Amino acid sequence: MTAQPPVPAPDGPVLLLGGTAEARALAAALHDAGVDVLTSLAGRVRAPARPAGRVRIGGFGGAEGLRRYLVAERVRLLVDATHPYAVTMSGNAVAAAAAAGVPLLRLARPGWDARPDAAGWHWVPGHREAAALAARLGRRPLLTTGRQTLADYAGLADRPAVVRLVEPPDRPLPADWTVLLDRGPYRLEDELLLLRRHGIDVLVTKDSGGRYTSAKLDAAAALGIPVVVVARPAHPAGAGGTDGTGGTGSTGSTGSTGSTGSTGSTGSTGSIDGTDGTEPVTAVDAVDAAVRWVIDRLAGDRAAR
Ligand SMILES: NC(=O)c1ccc[n+]([C@@H]2O[C@H](COP(=O)([O-])OP(=O)(O)OC[C@H]3O[C@@H](n4cnc5c(N)ncnc54)[C@H](OP(=O)(O)O)[C@@H]3O)[C@@H](O)[C@H]2O)c1
Repeated sequence: MTAQPPVPAPDGPVLLLGGTAEARALAAALHDAGVDVLTSLAGRVRAPARPAGRVRIGGFGGAEGLRRYLVAERVRLLVDATHPYAVTMSGNAVAAAAAAGVPLLRLARPGWDARPDAAGWHWVPGHREAAALAARLGRRPLLTTGRQTLADYAGLADRPAVVRLVEPPDRPLPADWTVLLDRGPYRLEDELLLLRRHGIDVLVTKDSGGRYTSAKLDAAAALGIPVVVVARPAHPAGAGGTDGTGGTGSTGSTGSTGSTGSTGSTGSTGSIDGTDGTEPVTAVDAVDAAVRWVIDRLAGDRAAR
């Protein structure tokens, strides 16, 4: 039998699935540390904030396309730092990393459910439920749930909703609706002004977490405006993975109390069983923990060579 040449160890970049403030912070930290980091953006936003390091834009063509990309680019580590509601991309990352044998880290910020006011919010499992509840709670809703799910809010067409979006809507909206094009970070005084100026009497939001867009919640609390929250979808790796145990944290919480058991902790690390029993996905909820994981894995690879 002829000897097979050894398969060379991957020597390509750390591929970072981005589109979030945390992904940009992680790219900056890794770039500063001299790591070859390549951020991938979906291409939904026309002028995205550009992360440090290399950037590619556009889909991969499903899980199989991503697997091929990981192999072709000799990607050493994959970091999924997409938004907690970007579950298709996260599912593809889990499948492709397992198939290509590339270690995967999930970086997801904690949700807002540990905030003291979260117990008074109205938690719903989806956007249609949010629309139905908002219709009962107020006449002038502020919708901050993003462009892609606006069709689910058609039931609010009979009232003067205000819709805040990063990009213009891709379809016509009801005539009475007002579109505000803006992107975070937002300040409390501006959010108070917005709510007062438009006479907003119910706020609809996702449980995005982080500080970038949380001032609207402080403003709603200050003005006694009810808040409808669309709970996080279950993470494709099997868990929210941000509570240090691999447990679900706030993921999939649909209760009306807003009490979900998430610790809201930062800097914790957990592991999530891979969907097919392969290497577990490591999960962290803070950028510095993600930096440490990447640096440690790269150092371990170097030592093994
Ligand atoms: N969903 C939200 O609420 C939200 C909020 C803020 C920011 N974002 C960011 O916006 C982007 C799109 O989110 P989404 O909810 O539309 O995603 P999604 O529904 O989970 O993904 C749909 C498809 O978009 C492509 N895609 C998504 N993220 C990508 C990335 N980082 N790089 C390359 N391709 C990507 C993939 O296409 P292929 O199958 O062709 O690879 C994926 O299958 C993500 O980067 C996310 O972090 C999302």
